Amino acid sequence: MKSEKYISPAVIRRLPRYYRYLGDLLAKDITRISSGELSKRMGITASQIRQDLNNFGGFGQQGYGYNVEYLYKEMGKILGLYKSYSVIIIGAGNLGQALANYTNFEKRGFRIEALFDVNPQLIGLNIRGSEVLDMAILEGYLRDHAIDIAVLTIPKTSAVEVANLLVDNGISAIWNFASVDLKFPGHSVVVENVHLSDSLMTLSYQLKELRSETPLEE
Ligand code: NAI
Repeated sequence: MKSEKYISPAVIRRLPRYYRYLGDLLAKDITRISSGELSKRMGITASQIRQDLNNFGGFGQQGYGYNVEYLYKEMGKILGLYKSYSVIIIGAGNLGQALANYTNFEKRGFRIEALFDVNPQLIGLNIRGSEVLDMAILEGYLRDHAIDIAVLTIPKTSAVEVANLLVDNGISAIWNFASVDLKFPGHSVVVENVHLSDSLMTLSYQLKELRSETPLEE
């Protein structure tokens, strides 16, 4: 069921970070944390944390702070991590294979069921238990399997066409790594466009500032 309350995208973007920090605290057997301490660890103000968590009803108690396990579980529920998701990867090249080889997604409940590619040399390969299948059978595969999420790790030239094919065949969540921002106005489809190079450019900006460099004149 969709929740009635509007939560801003900025808050949603911070939630996985809360979840990660709380998971680390739990792993260290820390059961309770003050908002001040959490704020110090995360580099976010205590008031920001309170504001963020208040969107979901607030979880702290005056004078006690936060119960780490409870908050971790609640964050998991908010993030939809109480169930597992079936995932396919389209494009079994460098990035597709790297993602399939990463075991942590499974631990979070994202099960990679299969990879798909057009390259005959890749079709039939087994990547950590998931087979690379021929793109030609994708539509039939989607008819027979309930897939929640498709990951796109193909060149941007074919990304839009493949994404439309996925959506036409019932996929409603796309984790897109192709360097084109996918949009599906009017469809009930959610897309997360990932650009690692944006993060790298942010780093280069910070490095430039750290070194007080100015761009060379042309
Ligand atoms: P790659 O060339 O190793 O792999 C791409 C694979 O897609 C190949 O195996 C190819 O046969 C397959 N492919 C091409 N067209 C297809 C189609 N229509 N249907 C199914 N499979 C198809 O490339 P790599 O390094 O794995 O990168 C994949 C994509 O991800 C590229 O577009 C690249 O620009 C992008 N990328 C994005 C990053 C990001 O942060 N968003 C980071 C790294 C790569």
